[in-house]
Amino acid sequence: MKKNILYISTISLLVACSTLKTAELSQQDVDKVKAIYPNYTLAELNDGKTLYSEKCALCHSLKSPTSESSAKWPHIVAEMTNMANEKTLTISPKQEDLILKYLVTMTTTAKK
Ligand code: HEC
Repeated sequence: MKKNILYISTISLLVACSTLKTAELSQQDVDKVKAIYPNYTLAELNDGKTLYSEKCALCHSLKSPTSESSAKWPHIVAEMTNMANEKTLTISPKQEDLILKYLVTMTTTAKK
């Protein structure tokens, strides 16, 4: 009986985790970076996520947004944007900005 309870709670924990992972971005995520990006909107965050999966998986598999720290992302995104533009895979300055903000949001969210 005890085993069953453990089993059930493990399953619900797994379900909860996978739900969390694929969960839609929310205003709460935006609020976490309000101090850094005062005029940031949920629409921009979602656009950043879409652009990230479109533009950042062109040369290698998509890296996890939490694989680097929020301090490191600006440098990496700038470097990757340069590389993409050299290969005419074009990431515009506006797109670069949205991708970076998405990554910083995800890193900031993960820390809390
Ligand atoms: C033009 C091809 C290309 C595109 C597009 C690209 N990358 Fe990369 N990326 C590379 C290459 C090549 C490496 C490994 C060599 C290196 O690090 O210079 C790499 C490595 C990385 C690394 C590992 C850390 C590092 O600095 O080596 C991260 C993280 C990364 N890319 C993130 C991104 C993100 C975020 C985007 C979208 C903005 C992106 N990449 C788009 C080519 C690309």
